[in-house]
Amino acid sequence: MAIERTLSIVKPDGVAGKHIGEILRRFEAAGLRIIATKMTHLSRREAEEFYYVHKERGFFGELVNYMISGPVVISVLEGENAVLKHRDLLGATDPKKADKGTIRADFGKDIGTNTVHGSDAVDTAKFEIGHFFSGCELHPLK
Ligand code: CMP
Repeated sequence: MAIERTLSIVKPDGVAGKHIGEILRRFEAAGLRIIATKMTHLSRREAEEFYYVHKERGFFGELVNYMISGPVVISVLEGENAVLKHRDLLGATDPKKADKGTIRADFGKDIGTNTVHGSDAVDTAKFEIGHFFSGCELHPLK
């Protein structure tokens, strides 16, 4: 199986709810390596450019306002099948539809306030990782 990288963002509700440690613990327990991580407070421009694929959607303004409402924790995860593995740990986008035991089911409130973002494909992950990290900030095992 291919070694992949994916981008994970603990959103403002996950940080405010003190779930950072538990969320990152679940990633490591599932075999995903954290090869970069940082806490930051996104600017409007950073959030708008990150979510540019959604800019025509009705929820775009709400999504951006939410993502800049407090600090977030952004990580790069590496491992076998990392994109899908991470998304499986998160559960469905809408926490009300997420399987029991997933991060969004356990901590999310609604479709906007859904605790963690995860890249949806390897190509998307490449763009998303490059948006927040330079190559020398990534620390894969040699
Ligand atoms: P995320 O994985 O960060 O990717 C895009 C985000 O848009 C998604 O999680 C949701 O939080 C948000 N989103 C998707 N659909 C809606 C919606 N109908 N209303 C509000 N937010 C949405």
